[in-house]
Amino acid sequence: MKGTDFPPEFVFGVATSAYQIEGAAFKDGRIPSHWDTFSHTPGKTWRGETGDVACDHYHRFSADVALIAALGVGSYRFSLAWPRIVTEDKRPNPKGLAFYHRLLDSLAEHHIEAAPTLYHWDLPDWLASRGGWANRDTAGYFADYAEIVFKEFGDRVNTWMTHNEPWCTAFLSYGLGEHAPGHRDWAEAVRAAHHVLLSHGWVVQGYRGMGLDGKIGIVLNPNVVDAVTDREDDLDAARRQDGFRNRWFLDPLFRARYPEDMVQEFSRYVPTWDFVKAGDMEALSVPMDFLGVNYYNRDHVFFNPRDAFLRVGSVTPPPDQVTAMGWEVHPRSLYRCLKRIQDEYTAIPLYITENGAAYNDRISPDGRVHDSQRIEYLRDHLAAALDFIREGGRLERYYAWSLMDNFEWSLGYSKRFGLVYVDFETQSRILKDSANWYRDVARSHRLA
Ligand code: FCB
Repeated sequence: MKGTDFPPEFVFGVATSAYQIEGAAFKDGRIPSHWDTFSHTPGKTWRGETGDVACDHYHRFSADVALIAALGVGSYRFSLAWPRIVTEDKRPNPKGLAFYHRLLDSLAEHHIEAAPTLYHWDLPDWLASRGGWANRDTAGYFADYAEIVFKEFGDRVNTWMTHNEPWCTAFLSYGLGEHAPGHRDWAEAVRAAHHVLLSHGWVVQGYRGMGLDGKIGIVLNPNVVDAVTDREDDLDAARRQDGFRNRWFLDPLFRARYPEDMVQEFSRYVPTWDFVKAGDMEALSVPMDFLGVNYYNRDHVFFNPRDAFLRVGSVTPPPDQVTAMGWEVHPRSLYRCLKRIQDEYTAIPLYITENGAAYNDRISPDGRVHDSQRIEYLRDHLAAALDFIREGGRLERYYAWSLMDNFEWSLGYSKRFGLVYVDFETQSRILKDSANWYRDVARSHRLA
């Protein structure tokens, strides 16, 4: 193995999620999700954009799988739409299941491994109207949905991810109000986080109980948190941010307990902790096969007495060091993030399940998209991942976010993360320069 080589068994992939690409939002018995409701509510998304059509992947999946094949990757991470698979009277929806069979057929024809996520934020709306993840019943319904999925696809899929980014599902959605359902209530948010983790544990147990022997894990979005100075108040702000962002999820999953300092902190908002029932912590910390890490940037923070929530302020990075999301480009932190998880929490294999960047891509007069900044971003992050592997780190996969430009949640179609450019008027796809670059890396397993 040369300095720039990935191990031969290392898996390169690309990632997407259902609501961001599928479209066909009301077709073949798909019921509304809270993202349909949210995106159709005035003022919630950029220019009121919705996922009604998105990349029209539901109809174009076979051409899209051919694109994935052209990228030379071994695995495709996508998500199953719960509202397509289970009807409101809790029965499997044959047409929804048939769509995913067609997708799996197509992936198999191209020898691309399927790595589905069960939940990438599209909660059935009827559950949202009963309190969504803040209601413990949702965890039970999620386990029922997973059982339907495992019965149907358990023999066709060997890599399963339960949840995508519980921090977003719970805190961004029920606390900060930026994602569906758009609530701003920290008592609800903390409860939601518990139910999401609990449902993960139940689903892992259910999977094992069915005698299926694929791999199953969860996907988190941990960040490295740095304080701007070594002053005690800044370091303390970084500790709280780390608790909020990282430890609130890593500690329960790998140590079967919530971090005490954050329990204290959240107790200002959470009147009672009786939603944590006997046996929950054991259930949610059931061993899994891998941990998915979505990584984009780091948190650079300071003590901010004016921030009512955690008294934390975030540094605005210089304009030449950010992506179109305003997120700081800081590849070294990916290395530090992986290292910290492995040193402090777990020896199970890590997968980078998302990494990538939005830039203001344009089609050039030559008809191509010259996204050199994205290439640089990907190269530097892959180099950081490689450093981790070369030091003995157990990193087995890397999925670029995203296969193609798509519906970036509340930011609508204004942010392009794709390796493939999508013209949303015509639905035509153009491989960006980064797609060709990534194909060379994936095929050669070498960082040129
Ligand atoms: C992650 C999400 C993914 C996408 C990227 C940019 O938090 O999992 O769907 O929005 O960010």
